[in-house]
Amino acid sequence: MSLYERIAEDYDELQAAALVRAARYVSELTRVFDAAGHTVDLGCGTGHTCRLLHDSGWTVTGVDRSAAMLAQARRRAPGCDFLQEDIENLAAPPTADGVVCFGDTLNHLVSDGAWQRTFGWAGEILADGGVLAFDVVTPHDHRDVWPHWLEVSELSGLSLIVRGDPSSNPRRARLLHTGFVEDRSSGLWTRFEEAVEHVSHDAETVVAWLSEAGFEEVSYRDGDTLEDATPESTRWFFLARLPRKAGTGLK
Ligand SMILES: C[S@@+](CC[C@H](N)C(=O)[O-])C[C@H]1O[C@@H](n2cnc3c(N)ncnc32)[C@H](O)[C@@H]1O
Repeated sequence: MSLYERIAEDYDELQAAALVRAARYVSELTRVFDAAGHTVDLGCGTGHTCRLLHDSGWTVTGVDRSAAMLAQARRRAPGCDFLQEDIENLAAPPTADGVVCFGDTLNHLVSDGAWQRTFGWAGEILADGGVLAFDVVTPHDHRDVWPHWLEVSELSGLSLIVRGDPSSNPRRARLLHTGFVEDRSSGLWTRFEEAVEHVSHDAETVVAWLSEAGFEEVSYRDGDTLEDATPESTRWFFLARLPRKAGTGLK
């Protein structure tokens, strides 16, 4: 069972900061458009971003491979469509005006070429002037912060210890999760161990891949402050836009 299957019910409480960030990213995305359109939310998790976009008048398709996360998303955002699929093997992604991928979901795509392939098909399904928005953890965070990571969360029915793995390759960083989860019907607790693996790439490399995928206006900022990125940035927020033609509804 994957980590997200185990923690889906508690995800929003565990990741409250990520949900605040995602709300800011949604504002940045919607500011680019004159009118609402259709967005595909990759790794939509519990549907927080889907719900925000839907409440702003957008139609939304959320994609996630975790059934438990999607169950939360369907409850939170009943007006959206959801696909239980792997981002790396999406059968027939719908056309869209926006593609978003928040909460460092892209870092979870660790196979060689996965980011380029994702940018490639995002470029193909987006309409003229369409926008891809995503946030990613930086190589600095993986190299210098993750190895020292220690976080303990005590929620009702879940205790979680998250530690950095100092032996992991900084290009393939790992957070080790030890959890104790309560079965709410029997009251019995089960222990689990799960490693979450991330990859990160230099900003220049990501910009080059976006441009190869046809995006012509590409910018990135510090993902926490939304100010200019610095060498200390632990997260970047990227906006990339396809070339615009007249009458696309974009500013
Ligand atoms: C850190 S959570 C982010 C959730 C949400 N975007 C947010 O901002 O709160 C990562 C999500 O991506 C999903 N995910 C990771 N890799 C995936 C893949 N290859 N295909 C589909 N979903 C994936 C996980 O199931 C999880 O729900």
